[in-house]
This record gives sequence, structure tokens and C-alpha cells, in this order.
Amino acid sequence: MAEVVTSGAVARTVEDLSGPRGLPVVGNLPALVRGGRPHRTLEEWCDRFGPTFRMSMGRTPAVVTADPAVIARIHRQRPDDFQRSAHVSGVIDELGGHGVFTAEGDEWRRLRKMATQALNMAYLRQYFSTITLVTDRLKRRWDAAAESGRAVDVLDDLMRYTLDVTSGLAMGHDLNSLEQTGDGLHRRLPLLFPEIGRRINAPVPYRRRVRLPRDRRLDATVREIDALVRDRFAEAARRMEGGGEPANFLEALVAPLEGESPITHDEVFGNVLTMLLAGEDTTSSTAAWAVHYLAGHPEAQRRVRAEADEVLGEHAFPPDPAAVGRMKYAEAVVTEAQRLRPVAPYIATQPLHDVTFETEQGPLLVEKGTPIFSLHAYGARRDTVRFPDPEAFRPERWLEGALPPESLPFAPFGGGPRFCPGRNLAVVEATIVVATACRGFDLEPDHSAGPVGERASFTAFPVNLRVRLSARR
Ligand code: HEM
Repeated sequence: MAEVVTSGAVARTVEDLSGPRGLPVVGNLPALVRGGRPHRTLEEWCDRFGPTFRMSMGRTPAVVTADPAVIARIHRQRPDDFQRSAHVSGVIDELGGHGVFTAEGDEWRRLRKMATQALNMAYLRQYFSTITLVTDRLKRRWDAAAESGRAVDVLDDLMRYTLDVTSGLAMGHDLNSLEQTGDGLHRRLPLLFPEIGRRINAPVPYRRRVRLPRDRRLDATVREIDALVRDRFAEAARRMEGGGEPANFLEALVAPLEGESPITHDEVFGNVLTMLLAGEDTTSSTAAWAVHYLAGHPEAQRRVRAEADEVLGEHAFPPDPAAVGRMKYAEAVVTEAQRLRPVAPYIATQPLHDVTFETEQGPLLVEKGTPIFSLHAYGARRDTVRFPDPEAFRPERWLEGALPPESLPFAPFGGGPRFCPGRNLAVVEATIVVATACRGFDLEPDHSAGPVGERASFTAFPVNLRVRLSARR
């Protein structure tokens, strides 16, 4: 036992915690990544070893916690006392994606202001026409699928959808991946995220010595995005010279915030890439899970449809964000899908100095630099008091008023100063997808590709998620 005393009790150290037995040198890494669902493995270990346990990442000891008090403290005390995992940030920065997600300290404060401003509701109203345009394309794609009788690959379609929305928002560029066939940036960009996940979980950073073909492909994609961003930024600068309100993130970056210095190209690129990465997979997987649950719950489909008919009347799509906000049941479907399938199920951080936590199991001393994995949605499928019958898909539970959404143990967008700034956009997009699906179609599950499953790279995502659409009866 360690001889550290806090609030009268002797604090344990990370070494004193129980946890899964690891292999020499590689520790628990192989067991963690085996099966491609590291978040579920962490949750199973949490069931076995308690809310706060130890594991080893190679030779490095790490803490995993689902203890709400510990997680809330980490959320609250960033960026001063905890930083994002240096390993995760290093992998993203290496690709040139240094931006608000990986920045720390004063640099983070500055970039965070810009990101928050670009994603606030006032801005959202400005690019709402982009969202409507992209939704119309999605609807037409689904009309064609319904007519042909073929099942739709929901995740693929929705990745195209969120990519088009996000690239419109981030740089005013219409990728139009929903209407494209064949290869192109719209096909290569979505490969970045899984590759980041693969690099984060790789036991050996071989790429620093040898570049495999996949690494070279990735480098080429990054260069392609860089060229596009340069182009779009020059265009944004021209537009802003003529006066007028910024209509996308790049245009907002042209004019520095009051008292801030002008942004460099590397910062512009890093932050645009951050938006593209942060906004795409997370939202598409969330919306895809929502469509999946709807396909298995016809009564929920009927409720979404009735609500959308009432709110939208003669409009094909919501005319503004306020109309989306009135579709409470559709939003509850999205929240319930997130509860059952959180797509960003843990946040990896590390303390900037030694810290003693008051955990459910007593005080715990964690040394500076120790990786900490916070399972900020773990309780959502286990807390039978707040979520009776937790495995059931029941969107109504969010309408019954008793549940504060987004408070631990269910915080799908994180918490504290680094709370996801894209939350409003994500909820708007996913709610529109849900309403569009139910308003236009009857949905049925399709298992032709195999049973629906779940995998995780950097974020968690569904596999084999096919749904059969037929025109609304
Ligand atoms: C359902 C969709 C989404 C989920 C579940 C999600 C979840 C999260 C989570 C858990 C974090 C980490 C918070 C932390 O480190 O404490 C985060 C950060 C972030 N998200 Fe999201 N996100 C979603 C969509 C979006 C969208 C659409 C955008 C923008 C286009 C976005 C932009 C960001 C950014 C820039 C950060 C970094 C914030 C910072 O470090 O200060 N996210 N998100």
C-alpha cells in the first residue's frame, strides 16, 4: 500500500488497483483490441474489476474509470489539470490535424472560441440551406433504393450525408458525395478516421521507420485536402474582403477574433481537418443506429412520422433549426440510440501533475502523465434506477421529464470546458435523418449482409447495417 494520506485515508496507487492480467511487454493491448471492440472489452473489465481499475498499455500502466465523480472532475478541470492523451493527440497531429481537439492551454482557449463560434446556433441557421440541400439528395437516393427494392447500406449513405454537410460547413465546399459514384476525395476522406484508430491502437509505431502503401495513400489524401483547403481559404479571403457575414468556418477564420492574431495556414488546415474528422463518423454512426432501432420498432416509426407530419405540414424538410427542435420524439429516438450505442464511448486523458481522486473505492493517487480512460457512457446501459429496463429501446423515457439528458453516467458529448462544440449540429443532422426516413418510407431490418454488429477504431460504428425501405404506405 502506498503511504499517501488524503482526507484521513491512505490513498492507494494505480499499482494497488485490480485489473486484467497482462502479457509481458505488450500488457493488455492485444486483449483490448482483439475482436475490434475495445470499448466493450473495457466495459466488461469494468463489470469484473469495479468502476476504477488498472490495465497496462504495453509497459505503461493506465487507469480506466466509470466512476462519475472521477469523470466529472476530469471534465471540469481541463485544460488546467488534465490534457488529452498525448498519444492520441500525437497521432492526429502527425497527420497535420493539430487543431482544437488536440491543442492545450492558451492555444486551446483561442481555437475553442473560434470553433464554438463557428458551430453556434446563429451560424447553424446560416448553413441550414446546405443541410436542406444535402437532405434532399439523401431522400432522392433513398427514393431510388425503395423503387429498386434493394436494401440500403445505412452507414455508407449517412457517411456521405454527414461528409457533405460537414465539408459545406467547414469550408463552403460541396463534395456532393451522395450523388457521386466511383473514386474521389469523398471516398478517401472517410478512410482517415479508421486509420487514426489503427495507429492509436498499434502496439508498435512502425510507420516512423517504414511507410506501407496504406500510409502513403493516407499521406496523399492529406496532401489533397491541404490543397483544397488552400484553395477554399483564398476564396474565403476574397469573399470576406468584399465585406459581409462569414457563411462557413473558413470564412470565420479569415477575420481573427478581437484581440487575436491572424491564423496561419497550418492552423487553418488543422482546424478544418478537425471539423471534418470530428463531425463525420460520430454523427453518421449515431444516425445509422437510430435508423436501425427504428427499423426494428414500427410503433416508433409511426410516432416519428406523425410528429414530422404535424411539425412540417407542407414543407418537405424542416425550414429552420427551430422546426427541428419541435420534433421532440425524433430527437428522443436519437438520444436513445446514443444511450444504447454511444459512438465516442471513452475519452483518453492524462493528469498534468500528481492527483488524488476520491473514488467509490476510496482515495486513489494517480501520477502525472498516467493515461486515464473515462467511460462516460458506461452507466447508461447499467443504471436501472435512472434507466429502468436499460437494454430496451424506449425513446419515450426521454420525454417523461424525469431524466436530465447528458449528465453522468450518460454524457455522450463529454462535459466541462471541452464538451463537444458540435453537439447542436449533430443532433440537428441526426434528427432530420430520422424524420426524413420515417416520413418518406416504411423501414424494415435487412440481414442479407449478416448480423448487425459493432466495431470501434477511433470511434465506434455499426457493421452490416442494412435497412429495406419501401415508399410510405
Ligand atoms: C453524435 C455526434 C457526436 C458525438 C457523439 C461527439 C462526441 C464528442 C466527444 C465525446 C468529444 C470529446 C469531449 C472531450 O474531450 O471531453 C467531442 C469533442 C469535439 N467534437 Fe464532437 N461529437 C459529435 C459530433 C460533432 C460534430 C458534428 C462536430 C463538428 C462539426 C464535432 C466537433 C467536435 C470538436 C471540435 C471537439 C473537440 C472539442 C475540444 O477539445 O475542445 N463533434 N465530441
